[in-house]
Amino acid sequence: MSEPRQILVTSALPYANGSIHLGHMLEYIQTDMWVRFQKLRGNQCIYVCADDAHGSAIMLRAEKEGITPEQLIANVQAEHSSDFADFLVDFDNFHSTHSEENRELSSLIYSRLRDAGHIATRSVTQYFDPEKGMFLADRFIKGTCPKCAAEDQYGDNCEKCGATYAPTELKNPKSAISGATPVLRDSQHFFFKLPDFQAMLQQWTRSGTLQDAVANKLAEWLDSGLQEWDISRDAPYFGFEIPGEPGKYFYVWLDAPIGYMASFKNLCARRPELDFDAFWNQDSKAELYHFIGKDIVNFHALFWPAMLEGAGFRKPTAVNVHGYLTVNGAKMSKSRGTFIKARTYLDHLQPEYLRYYYAAKLGRGVDDLDLNLEDFVQKVNSDLVGKVVNIASRCAGFIHKGNDGVMVSGDAAPELTEAFLAAAPSIAEAYEGRDFGRAMREIMALADRANAWIADKAPWSLAKQEGKQDEVQAICAQGINLFRQLVIFLKPVLPLLAADAEAFLNVAPLTWNDHLSRLENHPLNPFKALMSRIEPAKVEAMVAASKEDLLAAEAKAPAGNGELTKDPLSAEIEFDTFAAVDLRVALIVKAEAVPGADKLLQLTLDIGDERRNVFSGIKSAYPEPSKLEGRLTMMVANLKPRKMRFGVSEGMVMAAGPGGEEIYLLSPDSGAKPGQRIK
Ligand code: 2FM
Ligand code: ZN
Repeated sequence: MSEPRQILVTSALPYANGSIHLGHMLEYIQTDMWVRFQKLRGNQCIYVCADDAHGSAIMLRAEKEGITPEQLIANVQAEHSSDFADFLVDFDNFHSTHSEENRELSSLIYSRLRDAGHIATRSVTQYFDPEKGMFLADRFIKGTCPKCAAEDQYGDNCEKCGATYAPTELKNPKSAISGATPVLRDSQHFFFKLPDFQAMLQQWTRSGTLQDAVANKLAEWLDSGLQEWDISRDAPYFGFEIPGEPGKYFYVWLDAPIGYMASFKNLCARRPELDFDAFWNQDSKAELYHFIGKDIVNFHALFWPAMLEGAGFRKPTAVNVHGYLTVNGAKMSKSRGTFIKARTYLDHLQPEYLRYYYAAKLGRGVDDLDLNLEDFVQKVNSDLVGKVVNIASRCAGFIHKGNDGVMVSGDAAPELTEAFLAAAPSIAEAYEGRDFGRAMREIMALADRANAWIADKAPWSLAKQEGKQDEVQAICAQGINLFRQLVIFLKPVLPLLAADAEAFLNVAPLTWNDHLSRLENHPLNPFKALMSRIEPAKVEAMVAASKEDLLAAEAKAPAGNGELTKDPLSAEIEFDTFAAVDLRVALIVKAEAVPGADKLLQLTLDIGDERRNVFSGIKSAYPEPSKLEGRLTMMVANLKPRKMRFGVSEGMVMAAGPGGEEIYLLSPDSGAKPGQRIK
């Protein structure tokens, strides 16, 4: 046996000013599965994380809520911790970057970088909000795009034409915080001299630490020359003051990755067997892995290894990068109800369904992963309930009825036993390489073979025949042994299922090597259903609740920043404003009166790729609503969903006329197709 490995693993630290959603969970679930796999194999694997608690966004949000930043981050930490725990993400420690350990380590790293000559200072001219008395980050400045004249654009890029620019190029700049016109002001800033580490990074990024696609992307930056990195911010700022520099704070991204070390250090104080230095010294034998999304690669694969090198610490063994989550093939959308918070999911569905679906679709690459909600229901029901759990539920009853719950000895299918043993190294290799999708496919192929064998032997038929009891018991004992092996292989993904299976199997917590042995002449505990099917109605309810989350958030923080609303009928609008309206041809699939509403019809509209529910005040003109069914009309498809007493209205149909019986629904010429855009 080789020596157990010492492994420290991290996931990106979530910001302490927002809720965890299913996009975040893609990262935490995959990291957790990898960590659980390592632990199952007998390695010493430590998984740490923390809330990323600093920065102006957190300071401003606390101010808006009328609480201190410390109160805000404590509230958010409680919410995050329970979301993670309920998704079975088992951190060894979940700390905060606003901690003493992090303050000390950030100071230490900064002083070492400074003393080694890796810090530069120079004056920077930036916009300053004279009312608020603070410098403004680019995203807190709004104005007119210097390229296309679109209004209300952020300080560094235009959402309309895609141009990027310096905030000083914006026309008519305004502070997004106070509305004041910002003024230019100079201030001394501190820079980390990243170019000092160019040669090291050229080598490190190509030494097996990164996926090829990531290393190639970084090569573009490395080849065009690295820039010094501004690591300071002026007061007021929620963060750590730079030692010896009153009024200057570390930029949040300086102390965030140091938060990984700080969380580990905090854990070391509780776990005497862990030695901080053994994990972080330059000559450390331990392995260090960061799991991150593709948007924060430069921080983890350039700045961070350079900071570690410059301060005399070890560098990561690898940075594992994943893509984004899409839902039903598109970016998560609040109005479609596919921007799903972790808690909203948990209110409706079991965590292991999602863990399995993510595992089944995750590969080693940086591709985006699509959570297709129909496929999710189908795959989980078919694989976990239909294949894996099915084996145990088919066999357990016969053992309890026919042999007092005791599994007989003997191997009724040596070729299957052999196949399961032979598959284990390849499944382990897939887990180790984060190719969870391959691991799941190989496990399900084994489950298929086990089910086919049981179906072929048909113990349920044999049980009805005289003198076949021994054969029934041999088949079912074999079935349970195969089930036990599948549970071991799936344990990193499905820890709850594994715990319930261990209780039924009447065994101690299973480890990876237990797959090498069998249960012989072994008493089982009574069988209880291990997993139920996903009901599609629960998924629908989760989507509906996610739309409501949006409406609740909007009710709390009305859109816009208090500007006067112009009379829409008298104001002229820019062409761009008109072009932003998504007008579509819609097919009325269903039209019904709304019980309890005098004027409303409830319409189900087909707009090509989706269906919309719209409430429209046109009942007085259409007393027999079903006559509208099958007819084409026009709708505004990107109107914000509106919560009404009867449900959520997802758009508006277009009609003319003064009202009453004189309401005329607009129709396109014949030949138009549902979903076509009106230009
Ligand atoms: O992008 C983010 O959500 C950051 N809060 C991640 C920080 S990861 C680490 F460096 F702390
Ligand atoms: Zn523009």
